[in-house]
Amino acid sequence: MNERSFYLTTPIYYVNSVPHLGTAYTTVAADALARYRRMTGHDVLFLTGLDEHGQKVAQAADEAGMSPQEWCDSIAPRFLEAWEMLRITNDDFIRTTEERHKRGVQAFWQALHDAGHLYQGHYEGWYCVPCETYYAEDQIGDHECPVCGRELEFIREDNWFFKLSEFGDSLLELYDARAVEGRPFIRPETRSNEVVAFVRSGLKDLSISRTTFEWGVPLPFGDGHVTYVWIDALLNYITAIGYGDPEKATDFERRWPAQYHFVGKDIIRFHCVIWPAMLLAAGLEVPECVYAHGFLLAKGEKMSKSKGNAQTPASLVQRFGVDAYRYYFLRDVRFGEDGSISMESMVQRYNGDLANDWGNLCSRLFNMTEKYLGGLAPTSPRGLSTEADDTLRSLALSLPDKYESAMAALDFGAALEATWDLIKEANRYIETVAPWNLAKTEETADRLATVLYNTLESVRIAALFCAPVMPETSAEVWRRLSLGDIHQVTDIVSAARWGQLPGGNRVFKGEPLFPRIYEDQQDA
Ligand code: MSP
Repeated sequence: MNERSFYLTTPIYYVNSVPHLGTAYTTVAADALARYRRMTGHDVLFLTGLDEHGQKVAQAADEAGMSPQEWCDSIAPRFLEAWEMLRITNDDFIRTTEERHKRGVQAFWQALHDAGHLYQGHYEGWYCVPCETYYAEDQIGDHECPVCGRELEFIREDNWFFKLSEFGDSLLELYDARAVEGRPFIRPETRSNEVVAFVRSGLKDLSISRTTFEWGVPLPFGDGHVTYVWIDALLNYITAIGYGDPEKATDFERRWPAQYHFVGKDIIRFHCVIWPAMLLAAGLEVPECVYAHGFLLAKGEKMSKSKGNAQTPASLVQRFGVDAYRYYFLRDVRFGEDGSISMESMVQRYNGDLANDWGNLCSRLFNMTEKYLGGLAPTSPRGLSTEADDTLRSLALSLPDKYESAMAALDFGAALEATWDLIKEANRYIETVAPWNLAKTEETADRLATVLYNTLESVRIAALFCAPVMPETSAEVWRRLSLGDIHQVTDIVSAARWGQLPGGNRVFKGEPLFPRIYEDQQDA
């Protein structure tokens, strides 16, 4: 494996629905991390995609009067458009109907079969089509899905089974060993306890093929079975990087195991129990970490289309702009926990953090540079610095470490807070040193230049650390400072060293980065 390789995935989303705030949440979070890791010089592979097989998708297609493939082809562009709108920088986009995927799934089947992990048997039991999940008799009440509450279907068929029950001890050893090494396989901790308890209670073998419908990857043994959609879907993480393709063996070596699978807490058993067991059975390495985030709640309930409490990403982006959208979800909801979202808190964050703190700082500063210095950045200051200068500078100097620790803990909120400490200090600094007074007399011209230099430098550095979350406005701030393309930065620590703003750079005023949203616009 390449030491700097950083392979990060989102779940692949079902095409029975279009992108919504929930799927966008995982994808935006993964994008912020991918962008940051590119800025720390990692060789990033950021994968997302679509889960196109299974009964649920076949049913959606049927209801729309299309073939399953036509249906998938009609929905895929909606995801691509949404991710483009949200400035998602995925390096690959896998669809499970692609040849590369199907080939990989079949190769995997063969490997498991050859290693003796499969057998043919008879399955009888309850299945939830919307969740595409089997449930044991003791998990269900009145034939309702214990997760989504919808009616279960009784299935009776001959299936292939995976000997999942044999992997309980190996999984518990894996969780333990990783915890001891200080690199837990399941994060956050709370989720780990839940998974461990589930595995300890004993695992049952898993039915992994279906014969009652055809919309899936056929088994290579040619007996009319198709792959159970979850097995099919999980394999995307390796088929995308060339598993099953002898010509891609070196790519696969270089990329696997993944550093992170980002998932919602709803699909943790698939990712933390079934997936590692499948990999162990095939003699493959297990990913570094599965990180399960919480649910977005609207008015205290899980947001979902059926409950009618979901805004669309497009409507929010139209209202707040893409950067504010990304900022809000990563700043206001603690990654890893459930979090309530509301229009009120979004307007508050927007006006408070973005329009007031960050946008205003840039406007005031660029205006003063124009007014007092003819729009040219001063040269790096010489001479004694004051206590206020030192406070500002030391905050900027401590930001890279604080930000890195927060991102390593996947605490996007803390990373943004650390950046805001600098932004707020820069605002306080301007208030304290009052450049408008210094501009009154020629005697304080040097001090004025120093003060504006320090603030411009703080803004240059703050923009760097805003960039993973707010790519558009950060790039714009760098453009206004006549600096290079912020998205080309591959060593954020060196780029953030104090004193690199070239004196004489033209500084452009520009329009407000985040125009204030007024109350009467709130219900628009
Ligand atoms: N196709 C499976 C995943 C297969 S991965 C090998 C699937 N797809 S899904 O379209 O239902 O997407 C589920 C994911 O969307 C969740 O795990 C989570 O990442 C995200 N979310 C869906 N609703 C959500 C919320 N209300 N809140 C936060 N995230 C949510 O499951």
